Amino acid sequence: MADFAHSPSLIRLLADCRPGYSLPQALYLRDDAFAADLRLLGGRWLLAGHVSQATDAGDWFTAEFGAESAIVVRGEDGVLRALANVCPHRGSRVCVDKAGSGAMFTCPYHAWSFRLDGALRAAREMPASFDPADHGLTALPLKVIGGLVFISFGAAPPALGAAETAIAAMTGLYDWENARIAHRATYRVAANWKLVMENYHECYHCGPSHPEFSVLHALSRPGNRSLSPDTDPETGLADVEAWGPAADGCETARVMRSPLSEGCLTGSRDGKPLAPPMGRGGASWNGQCVFGELGMTSAFLAYADHGVLYRFIPRGALDTEMEVIWLVRGDAVEGRDYDLARLIWLWDVTSAEDKLIIERNQAGVRSRAYRPGPFSLMEPGTQAYVARYVAELSGAIGGPLSEDRGTHGL
Ligand code: FES
Ligand SMILES: [Fe+2]
Repeated sequence: MADFAHSPSLIRLLADCRPGYSLPQALYLRDDAFAADLRLLGGRWLLAGHVSQATDAGDWFTAEFGAESAIVVRGEDGVLRALANVCPHRGSRVCVDKAGSGAMFTCPYHAWSFRLDGALRAAREMPASFDPADHGLTALPLKVIGGLVFISFGAAPPALGAAETAIAAMTGLYDWENARIAHRATYRVAANWKLVMENYHECYHCGPSHPEFSVLHALSRPGNRSLSPDTDPETGLADVEAWGPAADGCETARVMRSPLSEGCLTGSRDGKPLAPPMGRGGASWNGQCVFGELGMTSAFLAYADHGVLYRFIPRGALDTEMEVIWLVRGDAVEGRDYDLARLIWLWDVTSAEDKLIIERNQAGVRSRAYRPGPFSLMEPGTQAYVARYVAELSGAIGGPLSEDRGTHGL
């Protein structure tokens, strides 16, 4: 591990980032960089899960991010809410399981209890001056878009604006609102979250590292990144690149239609259908898939017959979780309509491969021989992601040193 005892400030590091190159070593390793990252990311919109995880009053599930945890719960009134999973008594986690159902929440420490809307219901032996109305669970921003549940740990996350429109169009085309979860898996990667996101945003590595994906997706080949025209004449779905707060103050969003290989209808081992079609109209079996993104750490992929959601969750400076959630049509039954092993095969092998290559990347980045390296022509997504990260973190921690950055401006 490099010695950072006399290393430059974060602002200096950000100001010295070289456009078109990977980041300085310290931004991938240092705890103060990680703490700043969490403050930045936690204020953005994050994918918490899917509406099918809480359909009835009292159903709840938790969603974690860095040091944060939220309870997403369906109230008696049918409204889905997000509440901070932090007890207003002395700070214990209130829900310690991943999901459950009940008429109220009870803190396991001293048994304060809360209604489903977060209001304090009962607290024993409190003084006369205690006002229960002041001690409910903190409400967090929540937004459902096409069945996807987004939350934020910031009091005032960016406006959704074009991001909501773009993701609603994508999810609507595949009716994800009425989908169900077929499977969830978590891949724990011993690497900084930025290396995980950089990897996700380029397919330069697909040829060398993802033989299965490369057979099925044209994205792995130069010049086959997306489809033209920008709007599909049959479905009306438009490609969108809205790059977020650094540009216009609204949350980041991306929708990109992408071709499958010749003769392939979905992301299966033989390119043949895996499950009942989710898409409507021309989206069904058209030899395409759609990549989507909202915010900085949530990504989605729609095939004609299933969806794949990615939640990227930083846990430590060198510890990141990738949770993968597979969606199928709401009425699809395992064993009858799809085989689970076949359904998850591609993104299970691909995610396992990504874990391996990202951890090797991190190992090299920790070395004293590491220097920021140049992006290729097949890494425009990663280059844009890194530039956006530098711009936004610079803004968040005090602004870029515009007069002090020489020729290496953002
Ligand atoms: S910390 Fe929750 S009741 Fe005391
Ligand atoms: Fe990959």
